[in-house]
Amino acid sequence: KENKLWGGRFQESVTDAVERFSESVSFDKQLYKQDIRGSRAHATMLANQGLMSDSDRCCILSGLDEIERRIENGEFVWRADREDVHMNIEAALTDLIGEPAKKLHTARSRNDQVVTDLRLWCRDAIDQILSCIKQLQVGLIMLAKENEGLIVPGYTHLQRAQPVLLQHLLLSYVEQLERDFCRLVNCKDRLNVCPLGACALAGTGLPIDRFMTSEALGFSAPMKNSIDAVSDRDFVLEFLAANSITAIHLSRLGEEWVMWASEEFGFLTPSDKVSTGSSIMPQKKNPDPMELVRGKSARVVGDLVTLLVLCKGLPQAYNRDLQEDKEPLFDSVKTIIGMLEVTTEFAHNVTFNRQKIQKALPAGHLDATTLADYLVKKGIPFRTSHDIVGRSVALCVAKICQLSDLTLDDFRIISPVFEEDVYEFLGVENCVKKFCSYGSTGSEMVAEQLNAWITKLNIS
Ligand code: ARG
Repeated sequence: KENKLWGGRFQESVTDAVERFSESVSFDKQLYKQDIRGSRAHATMLANQGLMSDSDRCCILSGLDEIERRIENGEFVWRADREDVHMNIEAALTDLIGEPAKKLHTARSRNDQVVTDLRLWCRDAIDQILSCIKQLQVGLIMLAKENEGLIVPGYTHLQRAQPVLLQHLLLSYVEQLERDFCRLVNCKDRLNVCPLGACALAGTGLPIDRFMTSEALGFSAPMKNSIDAVSDRDFVLEFLAANSITAIHLSRLGEEWVMWASEEFGFLTPSDKVSTGSSIMPQKKNPDPMELVRGKSARVVGDLVTLLVLCKGLPQAYNRDLQEDKEPLFDSVKTIIGMLEVTTEFAHNVTFNRQKIQKALPAGHLDATTLADYLVKKGIPFRTSHDIVGRSVALCVAKICQLSDLTLDDFRIISPVFEEDVYEFLGVENCVKKFCSYGSTGSEMVAEQLNAWITKLNIS
């Protein structure tokens, strides 16, 4: 057995079970790029501060280049007995260049090293997710552009409520995604500080320059407190919380589209490219990708909960428990990217069924609230007009007809305030024309917002 990098004070080697149980290289090797980048900056700083010679630094840098090349070509042998990504790379560097490699870990601990890697990794991951969010926003805007003027029933409590423009509904998701986007940008700004040089927990007596490494790695500043620097994973928590909120938004969109694709709604047809069949029922065409988007949101929330529970009750500074932060982080990122990509594909591959939607519109008295507003415009207090329209709806229910089918006489028996112009407020088309409040589903409002998004997202 090879001597561990920390083996000096030990007489016996760890058992196989302990080795298997505590290794993390099987998953943290994902951090190799960030780890090597951190080592380059650290070695350069050490040389600059006179803590290593320039020739040692050169050997280290070219050794790291070679190791990176081997990893990327699949030639690097990851060894579980070398525990984690950090010791695998350091030990391989020693195998490769010998003595100079032994200076690399000067004024550094794996405690500050791992959290530096992690912050760098999160930064890149956030950039990837941001670009996926933008692409989904573009997909939704394209759908909105293709469906100008299409009115759909708006629901509350899953009961028919008021008519809305489909564009308005699609833009509601775009707005939510924009907040998801900003949350991530915010999270990235906050996490972009440098723990390197905090060492184990106390800092060091060696004359290092933390400002230099921080700048070389693109951080905004070195972290101010060395204990804080190695202790906390609040930045991962924030990131996973942001992903969870995005996942919940996507899950709700998934639920809506799954429902709308049903025979009962029939508002939407996914193309074959985004549907799957049944192994027994030959007629089936299922919207599985969106069901899985709904389903996978559970993983993303689970990842957040895992990390919250992991951090609860940890004493300050580094504890080995923190090694368990990586798998939830990696899983959350991989899952949310998949969810965003598939939802985008779905958006590019659905058609809204105008005919089916139009056939569905007359049911459910979607124009009742607009009718109540009509009476308000005639000077009736809203509570009274609510009651009058309620009684008009009751009459429709008895007669099995729509509000627009009632005659003026029918209306006037309920209230003499009704006049011939009442019909301008009935029917979903008329209704939608009446909306004029800021942020409402009125055509002009919606067109304005759609145009603003087209400009913002650079869509032609
Ligand atoms: N593999 C460890 C982790 O992921 C690296 C830090 C280990 N530090 C230590 N003192 N054992 O957290």
